Amino acid sequence: MKDWFKDWFASDLYLAVYKHRDEADAYQLCNLILNSTKISKGSFILDAACGGGRHANYFSSCGFNVTGFDLSKTLLNVALKQAREQNLNTKFFCSDLRNVVLMKKFDLVTNLFTSFGYFENDKENFAFISSAFALLNNDGFYVLDYLNPSYIEKNLIEESSRKIDGAEIVERRMIRNRRVEKEITIRKNDIEKRFLESVSLYSKEFLVSKICEIGFNLFDCFGDYPGNTYSEDNSQRMILIFRK
Ligand SMILES: C[S@@+](CC[C@H](N)C(=O)[O-])C[C@H]1O[C@@H](n2cnc3c(N)ncnc32)[C@H](O)[C@@H]1O
Repeated sequence: MKDWFKDWFASDLYLAVYKHRDEADAYQLCNLILNSTKISKGSFILDAACGGGRHANYFSSCGFNVTGFDLSKTLLNVALKQAREQNLNTKFFCSDLRNVVLMKKFDLVTNLFTSFGYFENDKENFAFISSAFALLNNDGFYVLDYLNPSYIEKNLIEESSRKIDGAEIVERRMIRNRRVEKEITIRKNDIEKRFLESVSLYSKEFLVSKICEIGFNLFDCFGDYPGNTYSEDNSQRMILIFRK
């Protein structure tokens, strides 16, 4: 299970399985963040674990100076291709969340669509948030778009299957050792591939207290991308906006 994220996000099957997490989904979240933080055009944004660049490139298209980084070269190539096709100046580089080195400062740092909680201990999971604090200008914002652990625990679907582009995708989910784990099996033309996901389940109270210990203040909190108020029982997401 250790380092499961290296194989899964390096596979081009990831984007097929998460096809529904598309540009429209990204625009909604980016607009929620921009409306809440009200950062001005031309501000500097860092999108950590940017994947295929759907948020980073949208922020760029809105007139911000955007840098994105990710561990997966497969996804970074998708992000770069999209930036070129849309004539955007988004900068991308490859780095691990646990040791990002950057010389410039930002007004907004984002960690979107559960790009958090992958490692085996709190020290590694929270390391990037300390880096984000150091990389932000005073009054800058850090946004964590994470799952709602209570919702996951109460609504876990143990197994589901669907067909995408002629491939059968079976997802088996379980909660073990305060983590939500998913085994993804993809079958196409008699070839079977299997991947794992494993994300730490942190409550809102725990996250807010750990992130405030780093030096941030909680600025805003939403329960979904349209911007509804967070409810521990009913929200599917937990979108926390902090200010330095
Ligand atoms: C669920 S995806 C979200 C991607 C993107 N934020 C989006 O919403 O499309 C998680 C991302 O985290 C990246 N990632 C996983 N482990 C990482 C690490 N150790 N350092 C940097 N990026 C990592 C993956 O490559 C993947 O792009």
